[in-house]
Amino acid sequence: MLITALGYLGVTSPRSEDWRRFGGDFLGAMVAPDGPDGAVRLKFDDADWRLQIHPGEADKVEYYGWLVNHEEDLDTVVEKLAAVGVTASWGSAELAEARSVDRLVQFTDPWGNPHEVAWGQVTTSNSFRTGRGMQGFVTGQQGLGHVLLLLPDIEAGHEFFHGVLGFELSDKIIEPGRINARFYHVNARHHTLALGECPPGVAGFNHLMLQVRDINDMGWAYDRLEEFDVPETLSIGRHTNDQMVSFYCTTPSTFHIEYGYDGLEITPDWVPRVYTKTQIWGHQVHPETKNRPPGIMHEVPVA
Ligand SMILES: [Fe+2]
Repeated sequence: MLITALGYLGVTSPRSEDWRRFGGDFLGAMVAPDGPDGAVRLKFDDADWRLQIHPGEADKVEYYGWLVNHEEDLDTVVEKLAAVGVTASWGSAELAEARSVDRLVQFTDPWGNPHEVAWGQVTTSNSFRTGRGMQGFVTGQQGLGHVLLLLPDIEAGHEFFHGVLGFELSDKIIEPGRINARFYHVNARHHTLALGECPPGVAGFNHLMLQVRDINDMGWAYDRLEEFDVPETLSIGRHTNDQMVSFYCTTPSTFHIEYGYDGLEITPDWVPRVYTKTQIWGHQVHPETKNRPPGIMHEVPVA
């Protein structure tokens, strides 16, 4: 496997300050010392941070931070991208320090999404305490969680993320007229990347999934959506494919968090399947959800 985890994620947001309460008190991440530009940094384990919210004028994804296990794998990433006409540039030492990694490369995918591939995430042993009394997150070698990107052409998305970058298909969910989605693994987590088809001309970031270790920590948050002024997106439910029990809420920065428990892990004899529904039960769409954007969206650059 070339890419082995989602290591970190960065967005810019006018409401970055709201993440101290949302990320720390509600989600239960640890608020780490701010980044050099005043960014709110959230820790989910002993990695120095995994989610960074930079202050800025508009909601924007700045980087999806993928990890490789071996430093030389970065060269392979650059070569594979070059073979399909995507130029990756090496990040400076200053940028590596700002991302708390040893080395990294940056590139933009054909739909205008900004990616970084890094090696050597900085980790401080025994440094993690949850933001509220809870059991913590399923992270470590499974990375931060999973992200769902919206793309207008899912076949081309498959060619790029599977064919070029080596993400392995876990399964598909195809609900004609409603959902066309693919799910990819790079470690034991059922999926680290999901692609969902959206209308032509736009692309974007729908949600980040965070997996908690104890179902009661998910229930605690679900009970407190109103208290923390967090808009519900989907009610508690269980997914068909990864069997995650989760709810979805909207963050202060337009995109959504899936807050889940008990996701399935990939086995060596894994066989991809096709499902026709996303949920076994629950996951009712909140009436207000249709009035909110599907995530942080942007126009696809014209080739
Ligand atoms: Fe998800």
